[in-house]
Amino acid sequence: MGAILQNPGVAKKMQEEINSVVDKERIVSERDISSLEYVQCVVKEMLRSYPTSSLLLPHESTQDCTVGGFFIPGRSRLIVNACAIGRDPSLCEDPLAFKPERLMGKNVDIVKDKGLFDMVPFGAGRRGCPGAAMAVVSMNLLLAQLIHCFDWSVEGDLDMTEVFGSTTPRSVELLARPALRLSTCP
Ligand code: HEM
Repeated sequence: MGAILQNPGVAKKMQEEINSVVDKERIVSERDISSLEYVQCVVKEMLRSYPTSSLLLPHESTQDCTVGGFFIPGRSRLIVNACAIGRDPSLCEDPLAFKPERLMGKNVDIVKDKGLFDMVPFGAGRRGCPGAAMAVVSMNLLLAQLIHCFDWSVEGDLDMTEVFGSTTPRSVELLARPALRLSTCP
């Protein structure tokens, strides 16, 4: 929500896409999500820019191996820096900008492709988050509903500082004002 509020064009595009699939009389439901490509790209871009875990859970190599030219002895503890990978300019052009458009038409599947080295919010390597599919559906649905039902506004500039730790919540709570835009809303 913070990234969307900082980039008002994003909420507008989401509303336009949602309006083309769901009329203003009903709330977005799970079956609409597959038709909402831009909404899905917003969630993926959010996980790239602000991964829930900036440093993923520790992994341990079971045997000696070489990754990207680096020798890793067996039984080494590895901690993947998802935040650094998501913001690496060699993997993503203009990485500090929040641009869901960059993922449009690319059909990136963050659940199926989890573990690929430029797509790591749910884990890197063989072990990954078993809740990824549920998490993605929940985030798409919740975000689509929040943006479809309300116009959101904030006063002043948003402080996007994060707390240092294994997960990265905001350090300053997000206070945003909703204005109802649907004619019916539960
Ligand atoms: C945005 C939402 C979520 C993110 C970004 C996320 C991310 C992660 C990551 C990075 C790991 C570590 C994977 C590894 O490197 O081994 C993990 C592990 C795990 N996640 Fe999630 N997760 C999310 C939601 C969920 C949900 C909704 C569930 C359950 C319904 C869940 C259950 C688990 C469990 C049980 C593990 C431990 C797996 C193991 O020990 O091998 N997660 N998650």
